[in-house]
Amino acid sequence: MSSSQRGGPAVVAEGLVKHYKGRTGTVEAVRGVDLKVQAGEIFGFLGPNGAGKSTCVRMLTTLLSITSGTARVAGVDVTQNPDEARRRIGVALQEAGLDPRQNGRELLVLQAKLFGFSATDAARRAQELLELVELEDAADRRIKGYSGGMKRRLDLASALVHEPEVLFLDEPTTGLDPASRLTVWEEVRRINGRGTTVFLTTQYLEEADQLCDRLAIIDAGQIVREGTPAELKADLRARNGANADPTLDDVFLDATGRTRDRAAGEVQEVTA
Ligand SMILES: Nc1ncnc2c1ncn2[C@@H]1O[C@H](COP(=O)(O)OP(=O)(O)OP(=O)(O)O)[C@@H](O)[C@H]1O
Ligand SMILES: [Mg+2]
Repeated sequence: MSSSQRGGPAVVAEGLVKHYKGRTGTVEAVRGVDLKVQAGEIFGFLGPNGAGKSTCVRMLTTLLSITSGTARVAGVDVTQNPDEARRRIGVALQEAGLDPRQNGRELLVLQAKLFGFSATDAARRAQELLELVELEDAADRRIKGYSGGMKRRLDLASALVHEPEVLFLDEPTTGLDPASRLTVWEEVRRINGRGTTVFLTTQYLEEADQLCDRLAIIDAGQIVREGTPAELKADLRARNGANADPTLDDVFLDATGRTRDRAAGEVQEVTA
């Protein structure tokens, strides 16, 4: 039994640092991040563009080397034991890598076979997942013809093939219309309800507010706020001494030193 099943933390990062070295110099993308996500939580990771969210997700999921610091997922050190870590996690990245010529069922069957399922078991698992993300009707159509929301749900399903303990989702709803976004939230809640810990990044503060048990805000490679949505709002209310009820938008703007005018679409570059 893994540590996360025993109720230990599902994700622990200590002093996580990432430097990207390029011809033009070093980018300090992540500058000492500590995180703890309890098993069973939906944890939200928020921050402006370029804050370091995807870089953290890629380090936590063994896809990117760690410059310094340590990370454990489901009790497994990702640097010391990357293969074991990979078996315990599922990941849907910001850029979904779906083959448009396959159909949804083929993709899931192939994924299951890659994880060592027999043909029969792979077919059964694919059917279960298609039902979970409500894509049974589209299962035998080419992915090329799927809407953005359908592709996201298929990508979600493909991250779940091997029943991971911890699911990482990098911006699962970016670019989706409000109805599709709600559908993805429902899928995430359902997956979480079946015992999977969820670590998701998002640009949508309402999403974090509705979906996440706890969240952290990262800015320029460092965590600047952490807590439940209610705690973060209460903290801002206390510091402002105002009667007005702050929203998570207000918390985010306060935490990242942005104003409502500057907030939209700004890119934050982190330089050495
Ligand atoms: N491969 C790379 N080489 C060099 N710099 C990189 C690389 N990937 C990311 N960066 C830089 O690292 C910083 C963090 O990027 P990252 O993609 O982690 O941010 P993010 O929070 O996921 O942003 P977004 O909200 O736009 O997805 C940025 O300054 C980015 O330009
Ligand atoms: Mg990103």
